[in-house]
Amino acid sequence: MHQMEQDRSENTALRMLGLELPTDPRWVNLAEKDLEEILTDHAYCEQKAATSCITLIQRYPDKREMVEALAPIVTEEWGHFRAVLQELAHRKLSLGYQRRDEYVNALRDFMKKGGSREERLLEELMVFALIEARSCERFRLLSLYLNEDSLKSFYHRFMVSEAGHYRLFIDLAKLYFPEEMVKERWKEFLAKEAQIMKDLELRGDRIH
Ligand SMILES: [Fe+2]
Ligand SMILES: [Fe+2]
Repeated sequence: MHQMEQDRSENTALRMLGLELPTDPRWVNLAEKDLEEILTDHAYCEQKAATSCITLIQRYPDKREMVEALAPIVTEEWGHFRAVLQELAHRKLSLGYQRRDEYVNALRDFMKKGGSREERLLEELMVFALIEARSCERFRLLSLYLNEDSLKSFYHRFMVSEAGHYRLFIDLAKLYFPEEMVKERWKEFLAKEAQIMKDLELRGDRIH
């Protein structure tokens, strides 16, 4: 793709997700260097997505619409985990150990402490939405700029799916909280997320 065209398409994708800071383009080249590392990290991102959705269901059984929306997402995220496992096996690579997730920890640190369980739900939904948005942005880069065609289409599928999840978490936030409140808190989270991304070391063995 032509450079100017590429920049334009990056900006459009970023705007759609609301994210403020585009990923450093060198990240794809770093990620590609050791597929076992990046696939391992990716597998655990999917596992954590499934686990976190289950936790949310356990904490808020009274939020019926949310429980019903999240139940199939658990299956989907676990399906993603299995797809990554399969990709590892196909390449005769092994699933490694889980690493400390600095990105997610930093986002969770920004959540308002205390408050009612109702207020905490908004914080949770904002963090879920952000992780999905950033994952989607990164999967998109992999789907466009990796060298291997089969891996490109592998990542394209994840990109599409995580984009849908990002929307779902924002919609759930708007279902349970006033739109203005969601917008305002989302803006604060976006600014913080950009700062976190900027401060984190760019590593090829991490999805975030
Ligand atoms: Fe996923
Ligand atoms: Fe997801």
